[in-house]
Amino acid sequence: MKLLVTGGCGFIGSEYVRRRVTRNPGDLIVNLDALTYAGNLENVASVASAPNYIFVHGDIADANVVNRLFEEYRFDAVVNFAAESHVDRSIENPQVFLRTNILGTQTLLHAALNHGTSRFVQVSTDEVYGSLGPEGAFTEETPLSPRSPYSASKAAADHLVMAYHHTYGLPVCITRCSNNYGPYQFPEKMLPLMTINALKDAPLPVYGDGMQRREWLHVSDHCAAIDLVLEGGRPGEVYNVGGVNERPNLEVIRALLKQLGKPETLIRHVKDRPGHDRRYALDASKIRKELGWEPAISFDDGLRATVQWYVDNRDWWEKIVSGEYRTYYERMYGNR
Ligand code: NAD
Ligand code: TYD
Repeated sequence: MKLLVTGGCGFIGSEYVRRRVTRNPGDLIVNLDALTYAGNLENVASVASAPNYIFVHGDIADANVVNRLFEEYRFDAVVNFAAESHVDRSIENPQVFLRTNILGTQTLLHAALNHGTSRFVQVSTDEVYGSLGPEGAFTEETPLSPRSPYSASKAAADHLVMAYHHTYGLPVCITRCSNNYGPYQFPEKMLPLMTINALKDAPLPVYGDGMQRREWLHVSDHCAAIDLVLEGGRPGEVYNVGGVNERPNLEVIRALLKQLGKPETLIRHVKDRPGHDRRYALDASKIRKELGWEPAISFDDGLRATVQWYVDNRDWWEKIVSGEYRTYYERMYGNR
């Protein structure tokens, strides 16, 4: 299979690239990534010289770049991870979210359509469904009700993906996953941010009362689900991925402090995020029943291993904190 993976230098995309390149030596995996602040070539350094892997530095919203790639490789399938992904940044500066998440997705969809691509997997999020009360869970039939510029841009992309299916017959699938955690997550997101601050004995900024609830899924369980959807998902279908490990933020933060042997006095309640979604929870019975997906990693084991990964890989996150990781591309490829 000739597979285009976009955003493969970010947190989840890089896990997917490492997985796919290693497990599928007969595939060609082309990773198209713009290397925004969230893209880091060190995340894919372990597969950079594999014969079935090609990295392309480029923007999914640039139709010239995208069309040239499709012309050259005639992809069988696309998995679109590329996105602006951080809610707080979307509140500060929404516009880039619209460009990448909406126009970028449409640019890819159109190229896939023009080149007869036989599968397009859009990696979406549970955040498109909005915020839940204390009971219940989102199913694939729940109407979309996004509440942040980030989730609104992802919801718009989901609508375009379905429009390309219904209008033009493009064989698409959408995955909507809960909060991911694991190695190589950019330290603006809650789990790495809190872990790194704790390691530095710096305050842990908890938004509001810290009782917002998220469902946590290990990134490798998410990528396994994406592979199942890529290979066996029914065209035009949405698959929720998650449904396990719902926790209030404070409980997660207390657990990581305990593991690191750091005091809870590091916790600082700060001003809440505007429009902060209170609770997400997914009903993922469809992907379990149809595709046999089961998460392999329990939250307690996964959290322990993840916190330990940030302890053991100080060099990785210190380069991000200092900004040094941004020169990696020039060091690897020259300034072009
Ligand atoms: P991330 O921010 O870590 O990585 C995003 C990657 O996309 C980076 O490598 C970045 O350089 C690249 N990128 C950004 N704009 C681009 C553009 N215009 N062209 C090409 N590449 C571009 O994000 P992540 O956490 O790995 O999330 C990946 C996908 O999964 C996103 O679509 C996100 O909405 C979705 N998702 C994330 C989570 C989560 O918990 N992190 C949960 C569910 C779904
Ligand atoms: P985040 O990792 O940004 O993911 P999302 O907003 O997509 O769920 O945040 C996870 C939860 O942690 C969310 O409820 C917001 C909260 N949070 C804090 O309390 N403090 C922080 O500094 C950050 C980044 C997040």
